[in-house]
Amino acid sequence: MSRASLEKRPDEVAAMFDDVAPKYDLTNDLLSLGQTRRWRRIVVDTVDVRPGQRVLDVAAGTGTSSEPYADAGVDVVALDFSLGMLKVGKRRRPDIDFIAGDATALPFADNTFDATTISFGLRNVNEPKKAIAEMLRVTKPGGKLVIAEFSHPTFGPFRTVYTEYLMRALPAIAKRSSSNPTAYTYLAESIRAWPDQDHLAQWIAEAGWSKVSYRNLNGGTVALHRAYKAEAGTRSS
Ligand SMILES: C[S@@+](CC[C@H](N)C(=O)[O-])C[C@H]1O[C@@H](n2cnc3c(N)ncnc32)[C@H](O)[C@@H]1O
Repeated sequence: MSRASLEKRPDEVAAMFDDVAPKYDLTNDLLSLGQTRRWRRIVVDTVDVRPGQRVLDVAAGTGTSSEPYADAGVDVVALDFSLGMLKVGKRRRPDIDFIAGDATALPFADNTFDATTISFGLRNVNEPKKAIAEMLRVTKPGGKLVIAEFSHPTFGPFRTVYTEYLMRALPAIAKRSSSNPTAYTYLAESIRAWPDQDHLAQWIAEAGWSKVSYRNLNGGTVALHRAYKAEAGTRSS
């Protein structure tokens, strides 16, 4: 059984997700007490695309984050570098276009997608700033970026309980459902080490995205960042 370290070596991250793939969605539902479904609905509402538009879901895993777009008649591409996750996804949803690829070197031409999104993936990417820049490159001018990621609770006492106690309990809970419970030690460590909401917003703006904003969900345990690619001829702000 493998787990990645906080160095996030791509081969280790991909192998870890290959391992958890068979029970990934079940464990997610269990650990979040079903909250992931609500978060996913909010992500889709924020991406806000119409049938006929093209969306890239980066680090799509088994495609659970891509499904709502396909269901709504939106042309969605689900990209991931874990072949294990892609295999589970393709078996579940043969109608979705799953592509093997790296978030830091997206296999698409410039200005291809109306929106680009990544759910609970960016934290696992070895060079997240590079991925944010790549998502800008493949998004059309005027197009949107939406990032859902675990973040830092805003209320101090809750932040302490959350990071010191709840996070440490994750591997024990995951033992009940996951094919690789040690991967959930990595999950807890990587959430603790991840930049807070303002810091991530800064990375997004520095990459060249405009109108960067975010909203907190569940007291900041999850944050949803949104940004736009400036129209040609306008300056980013
Ligand atoms: C926690 S899963 C999220 C899956 C899905 N988006 C969801 O919401 O259920 C994180 C995914 O990120 C993928 N990943 C991590 N680094 C990546 C990279 N550099 N390129 C592509 N996928 C990557 C992993 O393989 C894994 O499937």
